[in-house]
Amino acid sequence: MKHLWDVPFLLLILLYLLAAVTSQVNPGVCRYPLGMSGGQIQDEDISASSQWSESTAARYGRLDFEEGDGAWCPEITVEPDSLKEFLQIDLRSLHFITLVGTQGRHAGGIGNEFSQMYKIKYSRDGSRWISWRNRQGKQVIEGNRNAYDIVLKDLEPPIIARYVRFMPVTDHSMNVCMRVELYGCEWLDGLVSYNAPAGEQMSLPAPPAYLNDSVYDGAVIHSMTEGLGQLTDGVCGLDDFTHSHVYNVWPGYDYVGWTNESLPSGFVEIMFEFDRIRNFTTMKVHCNNMYSRHVKAFRQVVCYFRSEADWEATPLSFSPVEDEKNPSARFITVNLANHMASAIKCQFFFADAWMLFSEITFQSDTAMYNTTLAPPKTALPPNIQPEDDPTHKVDDSNTRILIGCLVAIIFILVVIIVIILWRQVWQKMLEKSETFAYNHNQSSTISEQESNSTYERIFPLGPDYQEPSRIICKLPEFAQSSEEPASTSTAASKSTATTAVQDGAPHYAEADIVNLQGVTGSNTYAIPALTMDLLSGKDVAVEEFPRKLLTFKEKLGEGQFGEVHLCEAEGMQEFMNKEFLFDIPEDQPVLVAVKMLRSDASKNARNDFLKEIKIMSRLKDPNIIRLLAVCIYSDPLCMITEYMENGDLNQFLSRHEPEGQLALLSNAPTVSFNNLCYMAAQIASGMKYLSSLNFVHRDLATRNCLVGKNFTIKIADFGMSRNLYSGDYYRIQGRAVLPIRWMSWESILLGKFTTASDVWAFGVTLWEILNFCKEQPYSQLTDEQVIENTGEFFRDQKRQIYLPQPVLCPDSLYKIMLSCWRRNTKERPSFQEIHRALLELQP
Ligand SMILES: *[C@@H]1O[C@H](CO)[C@@H](O)[C@H](O)[C@H]1NC(C)=O
Ligand SMILES: *[C@@H]1O[C@H](CO)[C@@H](O)[C@H](O)[C@H]1NC(C)=O
Ligand SMILES: *[C@@H]1O[C@H](CO)[C@@H](O)[C@H](O)[C@H]1NC(C)=O
Ligand SMILES: *[C@@H]1O[C@H](CO)[C@@H](O)[C@H](O)[C@H]1NC(C)=O
Repeated sequence: MKHLWDVPFLLLILLYLLAAVTSQVNPGVCRYPLGMSGGQIQDEDISASSQWSESTAARYGRLDFEEGDGAWCPEITVEPDSLKEFLQIDLRSLHFITLVGTQGRHAGGIGNEFSQMYKIKYSRDGSRWISWRNRQGKQVIEGNRNAYDIVLKDLEPPIIARYVRFMPVTDHSMNVCMRVELYGCEWLDGLVSYNAPAGEQMSLPAPPAYLNDSVYDGAVIHSMTEGLGQLTDGVCGLDDFTHSHVYNVWPGYDYVGWTNESLPSGFVEIMFEFDRIRNFTTMKVHCNNMYSRHVKAFRQVVCYFRSEADWEATPLSFSPVEDEKNPSARFITVNLANHMASAIKCQFFFADAWMLFSEITFQSDTAMYNTTLAPPKTALPPNIQPEDDPTHKVDDSNTRILIGCLVAIIFILVVIIVIILWRQVWQKMLEKSETFAYNHNQSSTISEQESNSTYERIFPLGPDYQEPSRIICKLPEFAQSSEEPASTSTAASKSTATTAVQDGAPHYAEADIVNLQGVTGSNTYAIPALTMDLLSGKDVAVEEFPRKLLTFKEKLGEGQFGEVHLCEAEGMQEFMNKEFLFDIPEDQPVLVAVKMLRSDASKNARNDFLKEIKIMSRLKDPNIIRLLAVCIYSDPLCMITEYMENGDLNQFLSRHEPEGQLALLSNAPTVSFNNLCYMAAQIASGMKYLSSLNFVHRDLATRNCLVGKNFTIKIADFGMSRNLYSGDYYRIQGRAVLPIRWMSWESILLGKFTTASDVWAFGVTLWEILNFCKEQPYSQLTDEQVIENTGEFFRDQKRQIYLPQPVLCPDSLYKIMLSCWRRNTKERPSFQEIHRALLELQP
């Protein structure tokens, strides 16, 4: 239990530090959500440069909200280096903003757009916009890595602004959607800017200290104008000004300082401008007093007030007690005696060669900042006096420490109790969810409602599962069914959009999610209409092919929508783009796969088919099957895609043996380990391409990869249409047919299909390859046991069964497989990483 005691100790120190800042904004406490997710910010105060559709308007850019289509999305793809798109929030008054949160568009599993990086611009008056930079001068903030997690970033330095813009930044052209939140509190000082002489450099004694205002956001030429900076960033400097709270900065960072050498008038004049006329009670100036280095607090201050146009004739003057004994930095409080003003000009007179300030704060009207756990200091000292009366300070902090300790201990006890209680609840929930998974396949009587609520209650409680609850709660895409294909898209949308129907707002899911692949009844690429629209924006670039030149050879598969035939096509070369070269002489027929839609297919199926043509025509990658031509002038509609002479990878490898003794004896054809790696790397490369377009394949397996000459591989999507592989799919009664042995736990339990679940499937595919497809994954387990095992992955109590290391498989390769099957989607490698790792394996 030792470590528990460290916590109150830390809190205690924290409280002690905070004791000095009661009437000043405290960045450690000023971290309240400002109302994007809470709704306090009105829709009309959220605007954007553009929107993709009414349902992705700016007002849907609220963190953790699932309204509309689940996020704000700009009209067009965000290009690198173009900072045209932004989401803007008007907070209606000045706020001190310490933290920002961002999230992508998840929309219950349909969306997969997010902003990997962004910049922030802000404005106090709505006309002068300032780009936020961190203390090292960097503007770009790391954003999201997936569509659902909330990523919070501290703003160091914090922002004081009324308007804030989030500007997505990308390194390649991509679709971006954002949901955001700002955290902070109202800026009660009301200070809009301070103008002062620029801070100087103290060269002697060495080391030099740089006393410029390094985060000033106004103009700095000879003096600083129209900005705020270190004097308002909420960070008080240390007693020794050459050190700093801030990591990795130069000596003197926290302070702005001036020397009497450059200011012959003997004072530093700082002008403060405010948002409105205020009734000022005090000004507090945090001064360094390291007199050993000729730094002292000011000797006298003279302040002028301006409420309307003119400066008041009689200034206010105040001289603090000079202190040669205590070298610690301190706040000096100046009583402003209820002067009404919208601008204050103060002349601070030097007491020594240097004067260093780190913070200046103003208290006006009756407003008080929320303070810490300790009670707020209610009454300010009535008289002007420096706040360094030692006895007073000790008393004060003793009380604070006591209260702090008590609060901290109570807090820790509560946390422990909550954790204990919560663990019990969690266990119960798990049991329930498990039951649900089974019920699901035994009967379809369990209503959608029930499934939703089960999942909704589990996830918010998860300790190690931090994805926001409402996003994951639905059990959506189980509905893709090859048994009732005519309704595939509607059935799918129905379950994904359960909540959509309830709140009546049009969603992608309802309106236009594209569930491609009508023909065979399998789903191929499921992508949001957003991507779809971008891809199919231009005219389809494929040509009509004369049907009579196709010669039927073999039926590859069939589904309710239609059939897939293997055909020979004569003269296909003429119809091809020049870029696409066959290594077959002009006059010889080419092997092609022809997907054919039945002429009596429903209108929906026809539309889906045409959409698929559009999408397929845009996919251009050496490791993805290409659409060659179409027959859409007459029925049946056909899509002619490449076919590879060696058939699919599963059959191909089944016919082959690993190199070695056994192969020599049986006289079977062999494939070398290097070629296995080569094929795996090509699959990874094709998937890398798909994932870069946010395409989720959902059915990656060796049966869906085609093999050409010299072990070339292309990824296709014949899927479950072929009887040959029906054993690979699991039928949930009347509803879905799923390749559960290739599916990630979250796809099975939560219906979440993402690139990370494709990565999981890739791991299984890799395993198949290394086994020469001689064995089905988890062949010793029944379908029910496979689902049970999925539950073990979810519970993560080390009872889950992994696919075993194939005999041929070196440890390094097996490690890649295991990394694909990590429970946490974020910990799985990307296809880029996998591709790189596989290339490295080849000599
Ligand atoms: C004070 O705290 C409350 C929440 O406890 C918050 O809503 C309010 O905005 C805070 N006020 C200021 C000025 O920060
Ligand atoms: C302040 O001084 C440091 C150290 O010389 C320098 O790196 C930094 O750019 C200066 N900042 C400004 C805003 O002038
Ligand atoms: C300023 O505030 C003080 C204290 O609340 C009040 O007594 C005084 O009347 C106010 N001054 C004006 C001009 O409103
Ligand atoms: C600056 O202050 C120091 C210490 O008080 C004093 O000795 C020096 O004469 C002053 N310089 C000017 C230019 O006033």
